[in-house]
Formats: sequence, structure tokens, C-alpha cells
Amino acid sequence: MKLAIGNDHVAVDMKLEIKAFLEEKGIEVIDVGTGERTSFPYPVSGYRVARLVADGEVDGGVLICGTGVGISLAANKVPGIRACVCSEPYTAKLSKQHNNTNIIAFGARVIGVELAKMIVEEWLNAEFLGGRHGTRVDMITEIEQTGKLAEAEKTAP
Ligand code: RB5
Repeated sequence: MKLAIGNDHVAVDMKLEIKAFLEEKGIEVIDVGTGERTSFPYPVSGYRVARLVADGEVDGGVLICGTGVGISLAANKVPGIRACVCSEPYTAKLSKQHNNTNIIAFGARVIGVELAKMIVEEWLNAEFLGGRHGTRVDMITEIEQTGKLAEAEKTAP
């Protein structure tokens, strides 16, 4: 397995710990940065990881900023990306099983590194369930690709 990881200036230490955690599991990790601790724009790392995931260069991505919000918002602008901010393992697991997330994000100002490891672990171990969940994820893709959702036009509000 190969993953990409990226962060902003707030999350350098947590990134390094999570990277080491992944490598100890035998996972190859592409670190897109940053090592900058003063100021670094989270969209840059969010985009870099998202690009690698969307292009099929890696099997998934991990993104960390102060809250996980900005960096995941940036990643989600890249077509094909489903990035989710998680502060606990249950959402991380369900985000893969039901939503087929391909990037997991969290906030270095929000959670500690041990909880972050549990979140990553649950996410890695989970598998997309497909079926009715696949139909719903396909709707997300339809919105992404066309700006519209046919099902929403035909069902009454
Ligand atoms: C940086 O100050 C902070 O805005 C960033 O790490 C992140 O929390 C944004 O969503």
C-alpha cells in the first residue's frame, strides 16, 4: 500500500508521527510537506495529496492542519476526491464503509496523536460496502461532474 500525507505549519510534528506510524506498518508514504513551522498555506498540501490520489499514484491520503477543515475543503475541490475530517474513529470507519473516502483528515489543534493513530487505523482497516452506499456515492460524483443531480429533480421536496 502507498499513501500520501500532507500538512500545514500547525501540524508538522503530528504529520511526522503519523508518517512514522504508517511506515512501521510497512506502508509506503509520500510526504508532500510541509516542514515549515511558521506559515504555510494548507491548500497547497491539500491539493498535492489530492492530486496524487485522484491520479491513482497512491491508494489514499492523510491530511492534517489546525482543524482538518481547510485542508480537506481544498482537497475536496479536486474531482474524484472524497475527503473527510474526523475527530474520532467511528466516523473514520463509516466514512470508508459508506462514503468510500479516499482521504482522511484531522486537526492537530483538535485531537492528540494517539487518537489520530486510532482514526487512521480504523480508516485503513475499513472497506467500502458498496450496494446502496455505492448508489449514493455515485450521486455525489454526478453532482461533481455535472453540477446537477437528476434524482433531486424528480423527487418531491
Ligand atoms: C492555520 O492558522 C489554520 O487556519 C489552519 O491550520 C487550519 O486550521 C485551517 O482550516
